[in-house]
Amino acid sequence: MRLSVIGAGYVGLTTAACFAQIGHDVFCSESDLDKLRKLQNGVMPIYEPHLQGIVTHARESGRLTFGETDQTVESGETIFICVGTPPLENGDADLSAIEGVARVIAKRARGYRLIVEKSTVPVQTGAQLRKHLAVHTTGKLDFDVASNPEFLKEGTSVEDFLHPDRIVIGADSPRAANLLQEIYQPIIDQTFACPIHSACPPRPQPRFLVTDTSSAEIIKHASNSFLAMKISYINMVADLCEATGADIGKVAEGIGLDPRIGPDFLRPGIGFGGFCFPKDLQAFVRIAEKFGCDFALLQEVARINQKRVSSFVEKIRKELWVLRGKKICVWGLAFKPNTDDVRFAPSLAVVRQLLAEGASVRAYDPQAMEKAQREVPELTCCRDLYEAARGADAIVLLTEWEEFRRVDWKRLAGLVERSLIVDGRNTLPREDVTGHGFQYVGIGGVSGAPELTRSLASI
Ligand code: UDX
Repeated sequence: MRLSVIGAGYVGLTTAACFAQIGHDVFCSESDLDKLRKLQNGVMPIYEPHLQGIVTHARESGRLTFGETDQTVESGETIFICVGTPPLENGDADLSAIEGVARVIAKRARGYRLIVEKSTVPVQTGAQLRKHLAVHTTGKLDFDVASNPEFLKEGTSVEDFLHPDRIVIGADSPRAANLLQEIYQPIIDQTFACPIHSACPPRPQPRFLVTDTSSAEIIKHASNSFLAMKISYINMVADLCEATGADIGKVAEGIGLDPRIGPDFLRPGIGFGGFCFPKDLQAFVRIAEKFGCDFALLQEVARINQKRVSSFVEKIRKELWVLRGKKICVWGLAFKPNTDDVRFAPSLAVVRQLLAEGASVRAYDPQAMEKAQREVPELTCCRDLYEAARGADAIVLLTEWEEFRRVDWKRLAGLVERSLIVDGRNTLPREDVTGHGFQYVGIGGVSGAPELTRSLASI
């Protein structure tokens, strides 16, 4: 089928590349002309495992073409809108890019078009889109508007798209629902050449859930807000574990064994970040307020999350006493591992606070240093984790990259000024750390220190 994808961010690029991978002819547009030129020359604007390979393969086979919005709107019968919906000052989602695409569709598209909102949008955006198109196409376009929210995670976006748990469709016409089923059929049946696995691990067939547009829009916001709530919940419990000497690792394991709760998204740490959870939480609260619904629960989720950064810096201060003049090594700058994305990253908030308090920060991240340096110019970025640790009074882990679990502790011990690890993601093997003479301070009562230092720590 001939598909159009408007917007080449994480969602748009993954959607375009994966639809081409499963056999569709895809036209993908990007309004940032610099980014578009890069894509037309095969240069990826983001680091995302497997994506480069799929994009290159699809372009070479002619199934993926990057172009400008006008052309792209004319090319495919189904148009997936994947533009950004960043937060406005007041927390509302900024829908101006979506309206911009609607104007181009109204001006350029003829015949029939299925317009699919894939960007994360507040409830009733589909209805507004439908009204806008009806007004501005003056009957020259036969169209349907549908919702198809995306649940992919950065760092695993290709796998999440090709092997989803569910595909959610919000369609108010059988024609739209049937067309989307046809488009997704190879993923529903898992009958495509998988670019990740030679033999895909067995997993349940993805559910193809068809509902109305408003329900689909709410499913997206509600899912992200629920996951964010789970993280704030476990962070809240972590604080109690810390105060009572309990072990949050065991507590999370214990509650996660209940299938009604499940083990996922119960990792305590410095809080959630990224371009989705913080903004979707705010947008969901705002839209609920507009409809007279009190989402105080989610405001509390956001408040707990905001406090994670300052309470973590407090933890470092408790060990170092005075932060001014201290040399702090930071491992991890991306908002999570396997991505170069630093948007709304709690790690950068911690770094900014340490710098503001007069500490010097030498940092290392496998992928995100360039983008982090743009956000925090005073940051010193180092070629590897050892260089960053040279002369450090403390090593602070902020993103749980696998690489940090494979450290040569002996080599590290010879580089640091003080053998202190403050782990903001409870990701390092405590026994390894303390076994090599390092004091280990984690989240939620998870800490370990050679006997001597433990008595010191309680002062
Ligand atoms: C999220 C949703 O997971 C995805 O379904 C949606 O489509 C987009 O938003 P993403 O933002 O890529 O995906 O990241 P995710 O893996 O969900 O992590 C979000 C944040 O929560 C990160 O900062 C991560 O470090 C944090 N997190 C996650 C925790 O602190 N603890 C956890 O247990 C899980």
